[in-house]
Amino acid sequence: MKVRPEHGGLRVDAPAKLNLFLEILGKRPDGYHELETLMVTVGLYDTLEFKEEPTDCVRLQCLEADDGPFGPAREPIPVDDRNLVVRAARLLKTRADVTQGVSVTLTKRIPAAAGLAGGSSDAAATLVALNRLWTLGFSTGELQQLAAELGSDIPFFLTERPLAVCRGRGEIIEPLSIPLRLFAVIVSPSVGLSTAEVYRHSRVSVSPRSVQPLLEVLVRDELADVQGCLHNALQPAAEQLCPDVRNIAAFFETQNEGPHLMSGSGSAYFALCRQRQRAEELADRVRSAGLGGVAVAEVAP
Ligand code: C5P
Repeated sequence: MKVRPEHGGLRVDAPAKLNLFLEILGKRPDGYHELETLMVTVGLYDTLEFKEEPTDCVRLQCLEADDGPFGPAREPIPVDDRNLVVRAARLLKTRADVTQGVSVTLTKRIPAAAGLAGGSSDAAATLVALNRLWTLGFSTGELQQLAAELGSDIPFFLTERPLAVCRGRGEIIEPLSIPLRLFAVIVSPSVGLSTAEVYRHSRVSVSPRSVQPLLEVLVRDELADVQGCLHNALQPAAEQLCPDVRNIAAFFETQNEGPHLMSGSGSAYFALCRQRQRAEELADRVRSAGLGGVAVAEVAP
């Protein structure tokens, strides 16, 4: 995430993520699933502007970005306690006995219910910005613990590293330093998916796959070998709940371009290309096929 001072407050660009690998290793007593997943940030950002308020309040307004590649949101983004930005701010206020308030303007470009972790990245941005704005002095490790209370994907965004294997619920992070020179064509169908529902319809893998072969192929920078190593154990459930996912997968199969996969719990889907130009051309073909909103974004920017 990129944080900078602006008009006496802070402005943060919060990136989306893709999962290049996601295996379900087991069901946990707490109802969550034990995972092994490879997460990578991409150059598609929500923007959050934070201003300190003297009174005890957490105010959020949400705007549609004029330059949002996916167009208007499918549904209005809530600005109350259902929004992770509000939940993150309130959690910090409670834990650190903060008496000041904050007003936040959130400009959305990352679609919701898409498996791109837009809400989680917004929450991570909120923890970082308010830790500074309210001078709370929490360490990154402490912020990660708070983040894990709010959602499984949030701690990853606090590592400030573009690529990591995440385990446990997703909150145990192993950052990696593999340089990636890739562009993603990201497709967001007109129907979103609820993460909880996709997990409910998913199955624990009987013979779990390991992320290791994918990491080796990425280290060797052999894009042609990536497709066989990409894996998302949530994709069959998502395809069942949202046929658009299956249609996008079938479309990319016919294109004979780069490797492709659904991200997280969907419904967004991506293909990887070596060159931006090639990615833009593929994006045009996806647009012509009417498969959903499309964006081209750098991987691990
Ligand atoms: O942690 P988060 O709030 O993002 O998770 C949303 C839902 O996704 C959870 O309520 C749970 O149903 C499911 N989930 C899961 N196992 C994970 C992460 C999420 O079952 N590791």
